[in-house]
Amino acid sequence: MDPLNLVLYLPRAEWSPGPEDPGWCAMLCQVLKEHQMCPRQKSLLRARVMDFITSTAILPLLLGCVGLFSLFKLLQWLRMRAYVRNAVVVITGATSGLGRECARVFHAAGARLVLCGRNAEALEELSQELAASRTPEVQTHKPYTVTFDLADPGAIAGAASKILQCFGHVDVLINNAGISYRGAIVDTSPDVDKRVMETNYFGPVALTKALLPAMIRRRQGHVVAISSIQGKISLPFRSAYAASKHATQAFFDCLRAEVEQHDIEVTVISPGYIHTNLSLNAVTADGSKYGVMDETTAQGRSPVQVAQDVLAALGKKKKDVVLADLMPSLAVYLRTLAPGLFFRLMASRARKERKSKHS
Ligand SMILES: NC(=O)c1ccc[n+]([C@@H]2O[C@H](COP(=O)([O-])OP(=O)(O)OC[C@H]3O[C@@H](n4cnc5c(N)ncnc54)[C@H](OP(=O)(O)O)[C@@H]3O)[C@@H](O)[C@H]2O)c1
Repeated sequence: MDPLNLVLYLPRAEWSPGPEDPGWCAMLCQVLKEHQMCPRQKSLLRARVMDFITSTAILPLLLGCVGLFSLFKLLQWLRMRAYVRNAVVVITGATSGLGRECARVFHAAGARLVLCGRNAEALEELSQELAASRTPEVQTHKPYTVTFDLADPGAIAGAASKILQCFGHVDVLINNAGISYRGAIVDTSPDVDKRVMETNYFGPVALTKALLPAMIRRRQGHVVAISSIQGKISLPFRSAYAASKHATQAFFDCLRAEVEQHDIEVTVISPGYIHTNLSLNAVTADGSKYGVMDETTAQGRSPVQVAQDVLAALGKKKKDVVLADLMPSLAVYLRTLAPGLFFRLMASRARKERKSKHS
């Protein structure tokens, strides 16, 4: 007799031991039959067990899980705040959009800010606004400002030394400033390609290189690149922008590997659309301003939310973060897993965009 059969069939009284079965079978059969219950007793017992589990076990277990999760989130939030409290954080492109919101969020978290941009007046206005704002439980600091044009290679070294003079060192550099582009490759002047690359790639690279030796000496620092989902996939009529962001991704990935030995962190953040002035400020094929708030940009995420995600990503020392909705995130995977299909979709998007422009 297979012991499994014994256990399966006995409770239903479908089996009794035969003369050829060993003695222990008969004994076990006897014991189990004695303990068999009528269906009413069984359902009562089942109900009691369920009552016990739901009233005494599941609820505390659930509450315990929720409590543990909340504690984990609270610890994460505290760690994130502690990471930037009193840290010297440099933000480029602080006069508008995501840069300005990062300035507000990092200031409220207690960071010592150096706000960078081209417009001295706008920077000063933001600095005054932040200096006047107080967060009850955090000590805040009056920000410094440094004015320079990232697209001017001659301005970077001077700007870097002014930045270092503000607080004596830099803990976090957020390369946020950027410019977008709209146009067909065939119509675009090489000067426009260069301008976009200077602002989005060569400027941030030069600034990072200028501040890096001081970080290496202190064996401390965090370099952040605000790239774009277009640093991972290329959309038609955005060639210069996508190229500059792909280059950004590549450069900062190399940097991460090279400076890990000096305890320096590198985070590349790739947002999807954000509701800022990026498309309004975009440059076109002939170098003029695009001046249109694209529907995609208008429907993008709020820059405040994205700034909070940037702070969270830094606190967790994330290396590569995509901050996008489902569709753009899926497009990144499609580009890797089914490139043929992805390229066909992009070609059809290009045809549609061209048609809608000419209609
Ligand atoms: N908005 C989006 O949908 C989106 C999506 C993904 C990634 N991003 C990235 O997010 C970053 C911030 O852009 P945003 O959306 O906040 O756009 P934004 O509102 O147009 O802000 C761009 C900032 O960059 C500064 N800037 C531009 N050219 C500069 C230069 N030559 N030198 C110094 N500063 C310069 C601008 O300063 P001025 O005020 O002097 O022009 C402004 O402060 C960019 O790197 C962008 O590529 C944006």
